[in-house]
Amino acid sequence: MAKKRLLATVLGERQDTPPMWIMRQAGRYLPEYRELRAKAGSFLDLCYNPDFATEVTLQPLRRFDLDAAILFSDILVIPDALGQKVRFEQGEGPVLEPLAVTDVDRLEHDGALEHLAPVLETVRRLRATLAPEKTLIGFCGSPWTVATYMLNGKGSPDQWVARRFALEHPAAFAKLMDVLVDTSIDYLVSQFEAGADVVQLFESWALNLDDAAFTAQVIELNRRIVEGVRAKVPNAPVIGFPRGAAGNLKRYAEKTGVNALGLDYATPLSFADEFLPKALPVQGNLDPLRLVIGGKAMEERVIEIKAAFANRPHIFNLGHGIVPETPIPHVERLVELVKQS
Ligand code: CP3
Repeated sequence: MAKKRLLATVLGERQDTPPMWIMRQAGRYLPEYRELRAKAGSFLDLCYNPDFATEVTLQPLRRFDLDAAILFSDILVIPDALGQKVRFEQGEGPVLEPLAVTDVDRLEHDGALEHLAPVLETVRRLRATLAPEKTLIGFCGSPWTVATYMLNGKGSPDQWVARRFALEHPAAFAKLMDVLVDTSIDYLVSQFEAGADVVQLFESWALNLDDAAFTAQVIELNRRIVEGVRAKVPNAPVIGFPRGAAGNLKRYAEKTGVNALGLDYATPLSFADEFLPKALPVQGNLDPLRLVIGGKAMEERVIEIKAAFANRPHIFNLGHGIVPETPIPHVERLVELVKQS
């Protein structure tokens, strides 16, 4: 069977040239995505339609020689499945009815997986379609990150509402975290059963937490998910991406049990050698802005990143999601550069 280079790297094998994927690789920078998106109706209709979601997942692989497909869905399908309806407004991002203390008990954990059945059908179709050397990545949002949207009703620069809720209402907050941990475990186990090779935990709002909150709200909950998934799927491969974790990154790597650590673009390239175990696989970490600009600003940095992580298992990626204004020729050049030995 053809070797899945990306999966092998997550499992700890160094490659001569790093395998790569691009966070948010299916999306608005691709005209074929925008076309299908317009046909699908709402953004969630797109996520819950296996025909469309399968097609959108595969679009970036038709253009670029990427080593993985990532399931097309969103981290906010979990609140939606728990009965807290989610809308995506044009130019505004996600909108939810903010969760109050008394709403926590009303979340509907029991029907959640059924609600997510179309997403799992997409995973099965992708498994059946993908070339054998391509890795299929599933994902979910980590509980803290998902909760920041559930509690505030939309994104926020400092997660103030959610951080305040955690300190003021510890019992309700713990209950909410329990629901999110349990649902995430069930959802990820189902993704593996449907054919995912590896899953990524998106902890996009790991910044702005003091180290006590980081331990309780990020490390401990990500650890419980990894442990819970592996209780059903032994040795399940997991990439953790705690964006903005900074001084907490080393502890996250040590304590959660993830196989590979996603580094955001603010993480110094020397960090891995200075603070992480020599064999720990890392993923990252080009600034998406350098991909927008292209030319020297991108190319020199790509060479630096490859060199910095050449002595360990490394998955090349951006240090956060690709943005809509990214020129497609720059992505083509990026792939060529990463694959050059
Ligand atoms: O290609 C892929 O990576 C797979 C699909 C994917 C999407 N969202 C599709 C999407 C994945 C893995 C995500 C994860 C996600 N969603 C995160 C974590 C990653 C990160 O960027 O930090 C977060 C925080 C979300 C929540 C979310 N979804 C926001 C804040 C927004 C609006 C802002 C934006 O980027 O548009 C979304 C919408 C969204 N999710 C789009 C896509 C392609 C754009 C929606 C559209 O087409 O109108």
